[in-house]
Amino acid sequence: MTMNKPTPREISSEVEIQGRKMDFDFKFEDLPRYWFGNDAFKTTLMNALSCLFLEGERLFIDAVRDNEHLVTDAKLKQQVKHFIKQEAIHGHEHHMLSEYLDTLGYPATKVEAQERAVRLMVKKYVPAKDRLAITCAVEHFTAMLAHQMLTNHELTRDMDPRILEMWKWHAVEETEHKAVCFDVYEQTGGSYLRRVLHMATITMTFMFRLSTVHAYFLWKDKQLFKWSTWKSGFNFYWKAPGLLPAIWQEYKDYYRRDFHPWENDNRELLEGWKANHENYKAV
Ligand SMILES: [Fe+2]
Ligand SMILES: [Fe+2]
Repeated sequence: MTMNKPTPREISSEVEIQGRKMDFDFKFEDLPRYWFGNDAFKTTLMNALSCLFLEGERLFIDAVRDNEHLVTDAKLKQQVKHFIKQEAIHGHEHHMLSEYLDTLGYPATKVEAQERAVRLMVKKYVPAKDRLAITCAVEHFTAMLAHQMLTNHELTRDMDPRILEMWKWHAVEETEHKAVCFDVYEQTGGSYLRRVLHMATITMTFMFRLSTVHAYFLWKDKQLFKWSTWKSGFNFYWKAPGLLPAIWQEYKDYYRRDFHPWENDNRELLEGWKANHENYKAV
């Protein structure tokens, strides 16, 4: 008897999401300043990305909370609960890294404060459905990056293995909950047009904000105007590992009318990680 392949929406309704408090056995102080291949460009890029997580994830939580009352599906309601737990814990861990980055001379918590001001403004002036569409777009970015983090070994090869563990944990949970906001959006009547319009605008604003913070960190380190920095950046984004070509197809897929995050069925990555990790407390 042949089993039919489950549809992305069937997969989505079966995924078990779990909030985990991790027990990492390292201190940020133990890491070298350039913990990503002794490379200023790559390390400050990841540091800049990390600074944007705390308020970004709070924005997602607000958006899903403000639409949650319209959800009728019991399983999705439960997934929402765990999504909120996961994002709250991620924000906390990345804030710890921001506090450490402050001690290295990067204005990381200042960036978080700016992000907070933007988040509160967005919460006040942008309708809940639009905030949810924004969240779906950014969650697709995090899902694409998470997939690369878990599968593209050329990308992560030079990363200090201790902090790589932290990024992989975040990547696993981003993969687990990659469709929660999307499903809430779809099940509460979110339109295709609003979804793709916000993806187009978020692509520009997110890349601009990330690049600005990244450039500022490089400038602080007196690395911004060095040829080696830009060479590393070109390689990282375009050549080897070539992050942008690696995610391009998945990015474009989001603009299809019938797109769903679980059409990339990468559940085996979750199983693989879980089999090797028990150093967490379920919450
Ligand atoms: Fe997260
Ligand atoms: Fe997320």
